[in-house]
Amino acid sequence: MRGIARVLVVDDEPLQRALLLRALAPLGLEVWVASHGQEALERLQDGMPHAVLTDLHMPFMDGLTLTRHLKALDPLLPVILLTADGEREVRLKGIEAGADDFLHRPVDLAELRLRVKGHVERRFLQEKLEDLERALLALVRAVEAKDPYTAGHGERVARYALWTAEVLGVLAHEVEDLRLGALLHDVGKIAIPDHLLRGDRPLTEEEWRIVREHPIKGDEILKPLKAHPRLRPYVRWHHERLDGSGYPDGITEVPLLVQAVAAADIYDTLTSRRTYRHPAKPEEALEVLREEADQGRLSQEVVRAFRSALLRNRVLRR
Ligand SMILES: [Fe+2]
Ligand SMILES: [Fe+2]
Repeated sequence: MRGIARVLVVDDEPLQRALLLRALAPLGLEVWVASHGQEALERLQDGMPHAVLTDLHMPFMDGLTLTRHLKALDPLLPVILLTADGEREVRLKGIEAGADDFLHRPVDLAELRLRVKGHVERRFLQEKLEDLERALLALVRAVEAKDPYTAGHGERVARYALWTAEVLGVLAHEVEDLRLGALLHDVGKIAIPDHLLRGDRPLTEEEWRIVREHPIKGDEILKPLKAHPRLRPYVRWHHERLDGSGYPDGITEVPLLVQAVAAADIYDTLTSRRTYRHPAKPEEALEVLREEADQGRLSQEVVRAFRSALLRNRVLRR
């Protein structure tokens, strides 16, 4: 196992603890021990473990209560409960408390090792994904720092797009791609000279040509990611329009969720403050979106859903 994986073992019986420690030894983990739930929670001051293996019946705080506390602190922390055979009721309570796994006593030590290893590896993977997301967010912030007036643009566009997708009835597996895609839609602006993004003056035609390269730049930046094929439409096509007047590819078949990002992008750009113009009111920005739909650039369905989403989330009042 790679890295310094930490596992917290909680058991009030010294003999049982010793047995568990011996069973885990071949995994080369850093093992923390506690003799009851309360002590286990105190151990967390040194950081979070990658998995918790806990006995059920202990003084001061039992395994179920500990599980509930741990899950309240971190819902994704793997908790493995050690139960005696036949404790069906307890098992059900354990599931209710949020336990991820159960091991019957007497414990099969080989099984114990495999289960713990599996949970710790999943936890590592999850931490890696969280790190990746933090890195991407830092990239988005770096883009937004180039123009003080766009701070939070990516996150707002993601929020509006998710709301709209909810109205449109999006599939569960598409939500995460949409969220990341919307967040990253302008990531290519990192490759555009700062003075063109500051938004403190109208741009010349040549300057616009350079700014309009950002969807292609973004597409290139994200290429090394495994998720690239799924994020690509949002990053590359968020300025495309159904009548072919958009850029960079001039396509006429723009996926519905990409249009949701496009609508959110237009809306947020109009309602945000720029130095050379006042921010539009929500109703005014929606009027612009309606015109886009009337002229066949965005679908009526998306613009209607966008409006419903704003109403539903009380950005707009009836
Ligand atoms: Fe853009
Ligand atoms: Fe944008």
